[in-house]
Amino acid sequence: MTKRRDIDRHSILLSALHEVAGAAIVLDADLRVIAHTVDVPALVGGPVELGVFAPQMLCGEGAQRPVAEALAEGRAIVAEVPRPTPDGGSRVILVRASPLLSKRVRVGFILLLEGEPWESEGPGAAVVVHGIHTRDSSMKRLLRDVDRVARRSATVLVRGETGAGKELVARAVHAASDRAAGPFRAINCAALPPHLLESTLFGHMRGAFTGAVRDEPGHFRLADSGTLFLDEVAELSLALQAKLLRVLEDRSVIPVGGREPVPVDVRIISATHRSLRDAVAAGSFRADLMYRLRVVPLFIPPLRERVSDIELLAWRFIEARNDPGSREVARIAPTALRKMTAYAWPGNVRELENAIEYAFAMGEGPVLTEAHLPPEVRGRDTRTQPARNVPLEHDPASGDDDLPDEARRLLYAIERSAGHRGRAAASLGMSRVTLWRKLKRYGLLDSEG
Ligand SMILES: Nc1ncnc2c1ncn2[C@@H]1O[C@H](COP(=O)(O)OP(=O)(O)OP(=O)(O)O)[C@@H](O)[C@H]1O
Ligand SMILES: [Mg+2]
Repeated sequence: MTKRRDIDRHSILLSALHEVAGAAIVLDADLRVIAHTVDVPALVGGPVELGVFAPQMLCGEGAQRPVAEALAEGRAIVAEVPRPTPDGGSRVILVRASPLLSKRVRVGFILLLEGEPWESEGPGAAVVVHGIHTRDSSMKRLLRDVDRVARRSATVLVRGETGAGKELVARAVHAASDRAAGPFRAINCAALPPHLLESTLFGHMRGAFTGAVRDEPGHFRLADSGTLFLDEVAELSLALQAKLLRVLEDRSVIPVGGREPVPVDVRIISATHRSLRDAVAAGSFRADLMYRLRVVPLFIPPLRERVSDIELLAWRFIEARNDPGSREVARIAPTALRKMTAYAWPGNVRELENAIEYAFAMGEGPVLTEAHLPPEVRGRDTRTQPARNVPLEHDPASGDDDLPDEARRLLYAIERSAGHRGRAAASLGMSRVTLWRKLKRYGLLDSEG
C-alpha cells in the first residue's frame, strides 16, 4: 500500500518537475540517474536507464568534456553537448547542470536540457495559444514562458520588432493570469505628448488644467485588478519615468492636480522595440526603472528568424479573407512562397498581413502568385540576393581572410544572434544540426561544442 503511494508521489513529483522545468534529469551524489522527465529521451536521442552514470551517458567517452568535468567536480555549468543522431549526423543540446545541496553537502545534481526533439527536424507542429499561431520552436518556448510568468504577478517586459506581436503576447500573459477577469488596458507611450500622457496615465482632478472639466481616473485606476500594457515604454520622458517609478514603488497614483495618493492594484507589462539597456546607456532611460520593468524579459524573435511561421501565418490571413462570393485562394505558388520566405519582413507579422491584403486587392484567381505580392516582397531575383538576414552593407569578404564565404556567413549569423545558435540557424534557414555540422566542418566549434 505504502509502496503504491510512493510510486504515485514519485510520478506527481516528476510531473511537477516536467511542468516547471521541461526536460530534466535528477542525479544522485554518484552522478547516477535517479529520475528524468518524459521529454528527456527525445532530446538525448534514446531511452535513459535509471542508474546509468550520467557523464558517460551524456558525453560518451569524452570524459574531458566540460559537462563531465563540471559534474565530477560538483560545479554548476551551462554547456552545449553534441549528441549523435540515428542518421549518423550530430546535433547539440544545451545542458544546464546545478548541484543540489542539503545542509551544504552535495546530494545530487539536476540537469536541465534544451534543444530540438528528434522528430522536429522539419517544421514543428502548428499550435495556437491565446490567438498566437506558431510552429516555430523558439516561439513555443516563449509561449511556455508566457504561461509560467502569467501565474506570478511579476512585471514583464516584452521585446520585439515592430509588428512582431508584442501586444498579442501581453494580452496572452493577461489572459493566462488570475487577473484575466479584470481589465486589460493598453497605452502607447509614444503616441501622446508628455502632459497629455501624464493625465491619461495617472488621471486628473477637475480644474487641474484648462479643459479639465471633470475628474478623470486615468489608465492606472481603470486597470485596477487587471493589467496595464505600456507600449513603447522607452519613449517615456524622464519626468514621467520618475512618476511611473513612484507608482510602482508606492502602488498608488496621485492624479494631476490632486494631493491624495489613490491605491491601485495593477500588473504592469511593458514593451519596447529597442533595447532599454541602450536607452539607459544613452541617458534617456532611468536604470532603476529599467530594473523594475524588466523583472521578466520576454523576447519575440522577428518573423524572418521563424521562417516556418511565414507560410503558416500567410494561410491564416488568407483564410480570414477567403470569400466564396469574391476571391478564394486555394494555393500559394511555390515562387511566391520562395519570395515570401526570402524577404526580411521589417514590419513582421503586421507587414505579412498587409502583403496578403495587397495580394487580395491586386490579384485574382485561386492561386496567389508572385505577381500579386507587393513590390518590396517580390524584390529582385532571389538568385542574386544575399543570404537571408545578412544585410547588404555587410561585406562577407572582409576580415577572417582565409575562411570560405559560407563559414564567414555562419559566424556573422551567430554574432548577430548574440551567440544563440538556434536563432542563428533559423536566420540562416537551416536546422541547428546542419549549422553544427557545418561549423564542425570548418573547424569553428569551440571546445564546448
Ligand atoms: N503569432 C501570431 N499569430 C497570429 N497573429 C499574429 C501573430 N503575431 C502577430 N499577429 C498579429 O499581427 C499584428 C501585429 O501584432 P501586435 O500588434 O501584437 O504587434 P506589436 O509588436 O505590438 O506591434 P507594434 O510594435 O507596431 O506595436 C496583430 O494584428 C496581431 O494580431
Ligand atoms: Mg504594439
